[in-house]
Amino acid sequence: HENLLESWKKAAGTRAAELVEDGMLVGLGTGTTAHYFITALGQRIQEGLQIKGAVSSSLGSQELAKKVGIPVTTLDFNPTLDLYIDGADEIDPFLRLVKGGGGALLREKIVATAARRFVVIADETKLVQRLGTHCPIPAEVVPFAITPVRRRLEALGALVKLRQKPASDAPFITDNGNVILDCTFPDGVADPEAIDTAMQRIVGLVDTGFFLKMAEEAIIAGKDGIKVLRP
Ligand code: A5P
Repeated sequence: HENLLESWKKAAGTRAAELVEDGMLVGLGTGTTAHYFITALGQRIQEGLQIKGAVSSSLGSQELAKKVGIPVTTLDFNPTLDLYIDGADEIDPFLRLVKGGGGALLREKIVATAARRFVVIADETKLVQRLGTHCPIPAEVVPFAITPVRRRLEALGALVKLRQKPASDAPFITDNGNVILDCTFPDGVADPEAIDTAMQRIVGLVDTGFFLKMAEEAIIAGKDGIKVLRP
């Protein structure tokens, strides 16, 4: 149910905003769940919380952050962040993630890597036993290399689709000027580390939507309330 899902996303995002403390440098994720976190963080700042600054993982989140009164900074001024909060498309029992449904995977991974702590927020429908079963694995690819990269991804067993802009024939272009190849592995991904390593070796493929050994905690909201998971 749509409204229930929204209320879970909001619950997870609002809870995550409580993790932010005075003086922190915070990384802001992208997507509908991160949207609730950013809004709740803006609310806390209105109420007197004083953070040092926030770095956004997308132009969209940056716009929202400014709108809700969050002081924004960049990794050039503040290369190390205290906390990164973001959603995910899939979360497995080891807190390995697939991200990039919104196309922001590369900046998300850059900001996540800059942070000392990454807490993932989601509704319980994102929990899976095996990655790649509910959604494809996105790969961010340099446009010049689309066809050779596609062939090498197919050789790894993926069904590959160039992501399109919603309701259009034009390719989706990332904030970095690249395209996304969505890779479906018919039985899911049994060994995410192995597939990620193989994908990362492809020249012209900039990054994948696998976030492995990165999230140290998950705030999951669902029909039984909020649960905090650790790998
Ligand atoms: C954006 O590129 C993604 O990685 C999002 O974090 C992910 O798609 C989750 O989005 P929702 O919170 O909208 O489901």
